[in-house]
Amino acid sequence: MNTKLLRKTNLSLDREELMVNETLFHNANGYLGVRSNFEEGVPEGVGSIRGEYLNGFYDFADMPQAEKLCGLCEEKQTMLNVADTQTIFLSVNGENFSLFGGEVLESARELDMAQGVTRRQVSWRSAGGAQVQVESTRMASFAMLPLFTIEYKVTAVTGCQLQFSSLHIGSVKNYCDPSDPRVAAESPQYLHAAPAELQDGVSYVTAKTTRSGLTVTSAVKNVISAPAQESLRAEGSSAEYTASLSLKAGESVTLTKYTVLCDSVRYGDCRAQAARLVAEAAAQPLSHWYEKQREYLDKYWESCAVQVKGDDDLSRAVTYNLYQLIQSVGKDPHSNIAAKGLSGEGYEGHYFWDTEMYMLPFFSLTRPDLARNLIQYRHTILPYARENARIMGHQKGALYAWRTIMGKECSGYFPSGSAQYHINGDIAYSVVNYYLLTKDVDFLAECGAEILFETSRLWIDAGSWYKGTFRINDVTGPDEYTCIVNNNYYTNCLAKYGMYWACRTYQILKDAGKLAPVAEKIGLTREEIEGFREASEKMYLPYDEELDINPQDDSFLQKKVWDIAATPKENFPLLLHYHPLYLYRFQVCKQADTVLSHFVMEDYQSLSTMKNSFQYYEKVTTHDSSLSTCIFSIMASRLGMPEKAYEYFGESSKLDLFNTHHNTKDGIHTANMGGTYMAIVYGFGGLRVKEKGLCLAPALPAGWESYQFRVRYEDALIGVTVDRDGGHLSLVEGSPKTLYLYDRPVDLHDTLTFPTGIAPAPAAG
Ligand code: BGC
Repeated sequence: MNTKLLRKTNLSLDREELMVNETLFHNANGYLGVRSNFEEGVPEGVGSIRGEYLNGFYDFADMPQAEKLCGLCEEKQTMLNVADTQTIFLSVNGENFSLFGGEVLESARELDMAQGVTRRQVSWRSAGGAQVQVESTRMASFAMLPLFTIEYKVTAVTGCQLQFSSLHIGSVKNYCDPSDPRVAAESPQYLHAAPAELQDGVSYVTAKTTRSGLTVTSAVKNVISAPAQESLRAEGSSAEYTASLSLKAGESVTLTKYTVLCDSVRYGDCRAQAARLVAEAAAQPLSHWYEKQREYLDKYWESCAVQVKGDDDLSRAVTYNLYQLIQSVGKDPHSNIAAKGLSGEGYEGHYFWDTEMYMLPFFSLTRPDLARNLIQYRHTILPYARENARIMGHQKGALYAWRTIMGKECSGYFPSGSAQYHINGDIAYSVVNYYLLTKDVDFLAECGAEILFETSRLWIDAGSWYKGTFRINDVTGPDEYTCIVNNNYYTNCLAKYGMYWACRTYQILKDAGKLAPVAEKIGLTREEIEGFREASEKMYLPYDEELDINPQDDSFLQKKVWDIAATPKENFPLLLHYHPLYLYRFQVCKQADTVLSHFVMEDYQSLSTMKNSFQYYEKVTTHDSSLSTCIFSIMASRLGMPEKAYEYFGESSKLDLFNTHHNTKDGIHTANMGGTYMAIVYGFGGLRVKEKGLCLAPALPAGWESYQFRVRYEDALIGVTVDRDGGHLSLVEGSPKTLYLYDRPVDLHDTLTFPTGIAPAPAAG
C-alpha cells in the first residue's frame, strides 16, 4: 500500500465535507498556502472558504474592548487572503463546467506526498451531452517558495468546443463567521489593490494593507499547450486570460497557470521580484518544478524516516501529519508555524506555544536548520515581548505574546490568553531542547541566551517569595478551562527549568568566552543570575500528599468535579456551551496540563506521582483541545499503559483526516500533527532529550510489526528501528555517541541491537 498517497473518490458535495476537503488537500510550502478550492468555484450559498495566504503577512485590525481597562489589547493582527489566482472557468460547448450542473460521472481527489502535488480528477457530461475529463494538478513549490502552479488538463471524450477563462483577482476578502470564536467575526477590506497591469503576457496586481504598511504583488502567467485564440485583459484590480479552441474526441489540452506571490516582509521591491520570479518559473516546463519538488521531498522523508508497519491507515495518517508539518513550517526567520498552518483562517494565522512544545521538537530532531529559524523568529520579536511585559506592568524582562504574527499580543480575552505566561517557559524550553541536541554554543550566544535571560527576568518580576519558596500567582496554565490561578504546576516547572538554564547558559557562555556581547547588550548582572538560581531551586511545585499527585494549581482540588460522562455529547467542546466562569469553578480540563509537565519535566517527580496524576487527570479531561490526546498517549507509554497509549495515539493521528474536532474546515491542527510524531518518538520510542544526553526506552505497540525513525544528535544521525526481534540502533552518520537506553549508558559506534519491552526505569528525584 502506498502510504504517501491520500485518495478520496466520488466526493460528496455536502457543504461541510467540501470545506473539509478544501483544507485537507490544500497546497503549502511554509511561505504560501492555497486552499484546495474548486477552480470553477461553487454556487452561491454552498460552503467554501476561498483563500491564498502568506505566512507572516498580516494587517492590523481593531479588537475593541467593551470595558477599556488598562493594558487590554485593542488591536490584533490577522493573516490575509492575498489574491485569488485559482479561478479557472471552463466552458464546454457553451455550458459551464461545474460539479453542480451537468452530470458528474466520476470524481476523485488525491494528495501525493511523495511528489508534493494534489490532483483533482472529474469525468463530466454536460446537459447537452458533451463529455470531458478534467484533471488539475496543483503545487506549492518547495524549490521556489513564491511559486504556486496549476496544471489544468482537459481531455475531450466527445469532440467539443472549449473556452478557458482564467482569472487573477486582486481584490479579495477574508472569511468570517460571527458565531464561532475560533475564526474572525467580521471581514473588512484589508487589502487595497492597485489596477492590474499587463506586461509580456503576465498580469500583476500590487496590493497594500490598510494599516500594517505591507505590500504584496501577485503575478500570473497562463500558458496553453495547443493553438488557441487567446486574449489577456485587465479590468480594475483583476485580469482575465481567455483561450478558445476545439478538440476532437480523445484530444487533450493543458492550461498551465503560474502564480508568483511576493510580499514586502521578505522582498524590498515586490513588483520587480515577482517579475523576475514569474519569468524564471515560466521559462521552465512544469516537469522541471515537479522534479525539484520530488527531490526536496525525497530528502525530507529521508531526514525523518518515520515508518510504521502493521497498520496501514495509521501509517498513512502519520505520513499525512508529517507532510503537513513541512507544508506549514516557515522557511525563514520572518515567520513561524500558525496553529492552522497555511490551510485556513482559523485562529487568523496566529502563532502560539503550539510551535515550541509540539512542533519544534520534531524539527530540532530532524531538521535543525528549520528549528533555528523558528527560534530566530522568537529572538527577532523580543523587543515586542519586552514591550508586552511593560504593558502587563513588569519592570524587567520580556513576556511573549500569547498569540501573534509580528510580535504584538493579539489575545482578545486575557484570562485564557495573555495570562498564559507559560509561553515564556515554552520558548525557553525550546531553546534548551535545541541546544541539547545540537550543542551549538554560537547560536546560544547569538539568540538563545537573550531569550533565556529575558524570560527569567520576567519570572523574577512576576513571582514572589512566600515562606521560603518562590511562587507565581495569577496565571493561566495550558488548560483553558481553569484560568487565573496561583502556582500552576506546569508554569512553575517550566519557570524553574528556564531559570536553571539561564544560569547554565551564563556559565557555558562564560567558559566559551562568549558571554560579554549579550550580557552587555541587556545589562545582565551576576546578582541577577544568583536570583534566577535561588528562585529556580526554591520554586514551589504543588503536591498533594494524600493523593500523591501534583494538583494543577493551588485551588484545583477544592473545586467540584465536572461529570464528563453525564454531559450530553452535543455540549462538547464545553467552551461553546458554558460560560467560561462556570467552567472555571470545576475540576475539568480542556487539555493536558500537569500531565504535559510530567512529560517534559519527568525528573521533577517520582514515577508514582506521575502515575497517580495521570489517572486523576484522565477522569477530568475532555480533550476539547487538539493538543491533548497526543500527550496522554506519550505519558501512557511512559507509565506502562501500552493499550491506552495506542488508543490515544489513534485519536491524535486521525484527528484531521476524520474531522473528529468538527472544525477542520477552518484549517488543520498543526500542533496535534507534531504531537502525533511525538507520540511515536517520545511515546513508543521513549526518547527524551536530557542534559546528560539522549535517552531512549522503546517498546513496540502490540498490533505493529515495526516502526522506525531517525534523529539528529550533535554531529550524528541515528536510526532507530523497533520490531518484534527487539530494538536496533544504527549510527547512520557522524561520530560514536554515548546514549541512555532504559536509563543505562550504552556506546553506539556502529549498530546495536537490544531487547525491548523493559519497563522504563524510575525517574530520579
Ligand atoms: C488550545 C491552546 C492552543 C490553541 C491554538 C486552543 O484550543 O487550548 O492550547 O494554543 O488552541 O492551537
